[in-house]
Amino acid sequence: MVKIGIVGCGFMGANHSECYRHVAKANVTCVADVRRENAEKIARMHSAKVYDSAKELILNADVDVIDICLPTYLHAENAVLAMKKGRSVFIEKPVCMTKEEGALLLKTQEETGAKVHVGQVVRMWDEYVWLKNVADSGKYGKILSAVFTRISAKPEWDWENWLKDTKKSGDVALDLHIHDVDFMRYLLGEPQNVTSSVTKNEKGAIEQIFSCFDYKDAKVFVEGCWDYPVGFPFTMGYRVKFENATAVLDENGLNVYLKEGGWIKPDVRTEHELNSEIGGNALSEDAYFKELKYFVDCIEEGNPLTVAPLSEGVKSVELVLCEVENAGGFTKE
Ligand SMILES: NC(=O)c1ccc[n+]([C@@H]2O[C@H](COP(=O)([O-])OP(=O)(O)OC[C@H]3O[C@@H](n4cnc5c(N)ncnc54)[C@H](O)[C@@H]3O)[C@@H](O)[C@H]2O)c1
Repeated sequence: MVKIGIVGCGFMGANHSECYRHVAKANVTCVADVRRENAEKIARMHSAKVYDSAKELILNADVDVIDICLPTYLHAENAVLAMKKGRSVFIEKPVCMTKEEGALLLKTQEETGAKVHVGQVVRMWDEYVWLKNVADSGKYGKILSAVFTRISAKPEWDWENWLKDTKKSGDVALDLHIHDVDFMRYLLGEPQNVTSSVTKNEKGAIEQIFSCFDYKDAKVFVEGCWDYPVGFPFTMGYRVKFENATAVLDENGLNVYLKEGGWIKPDVRTEHELNSEIGGNALSEDAYFKELKYFVDCIEEGNPLTVAPLSEGVKSVELVLCEVENAGGFTKE
C-alpha cells in the first residue's frame, strides 16, 4: 500500500480523497488544511490523522506520497519541502507560478531523485487520450489545424478568493487555459511561435485569453475564459483537422467527419468506475481517478512516471507565461 498525505482539503483535495477511496493500492493516512473542519471531513472517510498546515504534515507525517492540492502560489515551496523529505509528490496543475519556481522544482528533483507527477489531467481524459492515440497512429494523416476551447463562469468556491488574485493563481491563463496548452504540447510538441491577446477586468486580471500557435505543418488556436455569467455551463472541446478527417468534441460528444464523406462516433468512454458525490465540471469525471490510480500504481510498482512528469508541467507553465508576456503581461501593481 502507498501511504498518502493530502495537503489542501478544498475542492480538489476532496476530489482526490474520493478518488483514492477507489484506488486499491492507495491509503490516505493523513490530511492537512488550515481550515481544520475541511481536513476533518476528509479524514473521517479514511480514518486519517489531521494536521493544521501543509508544512506540519510534510515535516512530521510518515507517508510515501505528498499530494499537493493547495492554492497554486503554495505549490512550489511545499513540493520542494516534500522532495527534500524523500517523498514522491503529486502536484495539482499548474505546477508553479514562475520560471524561477519551475527551475527550483527541477533542481530539487535532480538533487533528491523524487518522483513527481503533475495533475495535467487532460492527458488522461478519454476523448483527449483518443485524440493523442489517433494522431500518433497516423490513421487520419497529419494534423493541419486545431482549435481547443475551455470556458466557464467564474469559480466561486476558492479559499479566501485566491483564484481572483493574479499573484496567487495566474488568472485564467495559468489556472484554466493551461489545460489545453499542456495538451497541445503533448499532442504536437513545442510551437515555433505564439501570438496572444487577452481581456482584463476592472482590476486588471486576465479573464479571457486567445492564442494562435504556429507549428511547421499546423496552426493551433486555444481559447480560455472564466468570466461568463453565473450559470454559464462549463464547456470544453476541440476541433482538429487531419489530412483525412476532422475530429470534433463538443456538446454532441466526439464525432469524426471523414474526408471521403460520412461520419463516425468513436466509443472512447471507459466504464465509470466511481460513484462520486463530489462532482466537478467534467465530461468524463473519472479522468481524475485514472491519473491518481496511474500515479499510485507507478509508485507502488517502482515504474517511472511518464505521462505528466514534472519537466512537462514546468514547460507548460513556461509556455503560458510566454503567451501572457506576448499579450502585454500580467497587470503590475
Ligand atoms: N486538475 C483540475 O482540473 C483542477 C481543478 C480545480 C483546481 N485545480 C488546482 O488544484 C489546486 C487547489 O485548488 P482548489 O480549487 O482545490 O482550491 P480551494 O481553495 O478549494 O482549496 C484549497 C485548500 O487549501 C487550504 N489551504 C490553504 N493554505 C493551506 C496551508 N498552508 N496548509 C494546508 N491547507 C491550506 C484551504 O483552506 C483550502 O481548503 C490549485 O492549484 C488549482 O489550480 C485543478
